[in-house]
Amino acid sequence: MGAGIATSFLLTGRAVSVVETSDELAEKAMAAVADSLERLARKDPNLNPEALLDALIVGVGHAPSGDEQLIIEAVPEDLVLKQRVMAEIESVYPESAVLATNTSSLSVTAIGSGLTKPFRFIGMHFFNPVPVSALIEIVVGENTSEETVSATRAWVEELSKTPIVVKDSPGFASSRLGIALGLEAIRMVEDGVATPEDIDLAMKLGYRHPMGPLRLGDLVGLDVRLAIAEYLTKELGSRFEPPQLLRTMVAEGKLGKKSGEGFYQW
Ligand code: CAA
Repeated sequence: MGAGIATSFLLTGRAVSVVETSDELAEKAMAAVADSLERLARKDPNLNPEALLDALIVGVGHAPSGDEQLIIEAVPEDLVLKQRVMAEIESVYPESAVLATNTSSLSVTAIGSGLTKPFRFIGMHFFNPVPVSALIEIVVGENTSEETVSATRAWVEELSKTPIVVKDSPGFASSRLGIALGLEAIRMVEDGVATPEDIDLAMKLGYRHPMGPLRLGDLVGLDVRLAIAEYLTKELGSRFEPPQLLRTMVAEGKLGKKSGEGFYQW
């Protein structure tokens, strides 16, 4: 997701820094951005991946220049981890920057609860694949200021994407609905209603979704879906209880596209 976000900002002509936690992840991020730019360049002869990549720095650990205007945290869906990373970000980057979390479901207010200036903190929820997704969900925390909402709207416009503004509630507008469909599809596999392929075709051809919910789970990551379902169960009740099949697949390392196997072979 971080690589997708970086790609989208590079396309606006901005300079982008990606902060990773290891050399291996830094290499992967660079390769993912390069691959994404190549795909986009195949359709747009005016797009020059090499020139855009010159505006990208991928490193291990923070190396602030002092000119940063927007910092987006995109670490895994773990409240304590996100709180720790946000505190680190606040202590390192300019006071004037907008600070955003790319969470799929966690409370933006809770993630920002340890910040000294939570008014400049907001949720920016991106969607896979970020470079071709038209939506960004702006999540307004209890302490987010109007100025921060306006500044975030301007960033979304610069990305040529469409914002929806939602209040800070579990799963926001997108994940709450998306997960409901995804979990029911997994229960249908458990019940032997149809194959994953046919369940997906039902939504793809019958409802004109761009892809079925099981393939989408593979794309997003089944571990990500499980984490969101567990959080929504805690916050909204048992209707979001993860099916056993989802737990088993994640425990076996079948995480979808990123591990090579999920409901599909990748
Ligand atoms: N970078 C750049 N371009 C990309 C790309 C990437 N990572 N991935 C896909 N594309 C481009 C392709 O180049 C292609 O462009 P053209 O059609 O102009 O040639 C276009 O996107 C379509 O890709 P494909 O031809 O490979 O396949 P497709 O037509 O089946 O589309 C899809 C694939 C874009 C993924 C489409 O099926 C889709 O939009 N699916 C729905 C995705 C979705 O629901 N995302 C939300 C997930 S939830 C989430 O992310 C949030 C969360 O909280 C976890």
